[in-house]
Amino acid sequence: MDLRIFDSAAEIARAASEIFVQHIKKFPNACLGLATGASPLETYRCLIEDYQKGLVSFRQVRTFNLDEYCDLPEEDKNSYHSFMKDNLFSHIDISMENTHFPNGNAADMEAECKRYDQLILSSGGIDIQLLGIGVNGHIGFNEPSDVFSEGTNKVRLTESTIRSNKIYFQDGKMPTYAVTMGIGSIMNAKKIILLAIGEGKAEAIRRTVKGELTPNCPASILQKHPDATLLIDREAAKKL
Ligand code: GLP
Repeated sequence: MDLRIFDSAAEIARAASEIFVQHIKKFPNACLGLATGASPLETYRCLIEDYQKGLVSFRQVRTFNLDEYCDLPEEDKNSYHSFMKDNLFSHIDISMENTHFPNGNAADMEAECKRYDQLILSSGGIDIQLLGIGVNGHIGFNEPSDVFSEGTNKVRLTESTIRSNKIYFQDGKMPTYAVTMGIGSIMNAKKIILLAIGEGKAEAIRRTVKGELTPNCPASILQKHPDATLLIDREAAKKL
């Protein structure tokens, strides 16, 4: 793992967006794995800024989001579809038909998970996967478990994740299930960039970097990835 520690979230975002921009310049039809949550927000702002300055175009870029809530309409303001539109897609020249999400409302979830895995495969796989990390070490919505998941799967969210994400659901009705790329799908990405900001992530980062490789801390699997970069701030690095 390549661990880089920064003084501020702004510096992390600059470093992450730089990696994406350089890649897209070389490969205009790059296939990107995208994440939601607070951690990548600033990175998306940097990408928008670079697009507005004419430094990069997303016209041919393809994207696959990590996850989506179940039982929440796509149009809901808290869906990850809405998050991506509001914070990135509607500000750049990406073609919406090149953006993909697992469907959290599919009637046949097993078929939906297969469809998503197949689509990623037939697109040639993900070049760069952006990740945040949950306080319990989850990546995507792969919660601590006895086994590492493989492909896209439906998960029941843990109390810890519900507590962390509830702040976004002002009516208090947060979904309790989600559909997420599996640990196997994430590990198949050619390059991984994980962002962690703030002291709340320090224990998860310690377990990811220095802890035992265990599905109880899903992010610890990144110890085995050949090209994983962790961009974190001093607070998140506090326990290393
Ligand atoms: C959610 C998302 C994850 C994200 C995590 C951390 O659970 N499914 O992909 O990494 O939250 O979010 P934040 O960056 O807001 O701390």
